[in-house]
Amino acid sequence: MQTKKIKIYDNSLAVARAFATDLYLLATKAAQPVHIALSGGSTPALLFDVLAEQYAAKMPWHKIHFWWGDERCVAPTDEQSNYKMTSDHLLSRITMPAENIHRVKGEWEPRQANQEYIAEINQWLPKTNGWPVFDLIILGMGNDGHTASIFPHEIHLLNAPEICAVATHPESGQKRVSLTGKVINNAKEVCFLVTGKSKTARVDEIFNQREGYLKLPSSYIQPVQGQLTFYFDKEAASAIKAN
Ligand code: 6PG
Repeated sequence: MQTKKIKIYDNSLAVARAFATDLYLLATKAAQPVHIALSGGSTPALLFDVLAEQYAAKMPWHKIHFWWGDERCVAPTDEQSNYKMTSDHLLSRITMPAENIHRVKGEWEPRQANQEYIAEINQWLPKTNGWPVFDLIILGMGNDGHTASIFPHEIHLLNAPEICAVATHPESGQKRVSLTGKVINNAKEVCFLVTGKSKTARVDEIFNQREGYLKLPSSYIQPVQGQLTFYFDKEAASAIKAN
């Protein structure tokens, strides 16, 4: 059964620190490889710095496999690349087996990169309900309510028949490879990291079911049998009523 938790911290650094602690507990307890899909965005960059600065020596990196929830179709050396961001802030600062890093080939033709990523996920991850099971998927929430690269104008990707799809950024037209809704909702744990004032209105719409919330892809992230946790800073969570 799905359960939902909300954690609220003073600022984005406190969110990153708390999440790093939870990740450390997950990885140290695990008896099996831990498959984690990372996100792009500002709070993950902070998280990766915290991990590199405080956990480089003690995290059992060999147990962790990194994937990406979405990737921009650019070279891995491009400033837009989520892989590059992770590499700059974390991977270049820790020691981890190279075979545990499963990046999307953003430099390939998007449909080919998508097919290759699907094959790699299918090769490595266990399945339930016919869908791969990530141990943890980290998500951000865009100012337009998107998550991973599932944007409001492509909300059908929540129900896509494939585990990944080629998506298109609504303003720039940039192609992305993104996990789709059913595989996200098949994860053991999904965590949103949401910080800053620019998120307050979307969080209000989603949590208080304001008109239009069903047009926001983030509204549909509800793991079918896993845990859903929101890590907010105070600004992003200001519209959530305390329980
Ligand atoms: C990406 C993302 C995207 C991101 C949100 C939130 O690559 O663009 O993975 O879904 O998580 O846009 O980003 P911020 O945390 O920077 O607001």
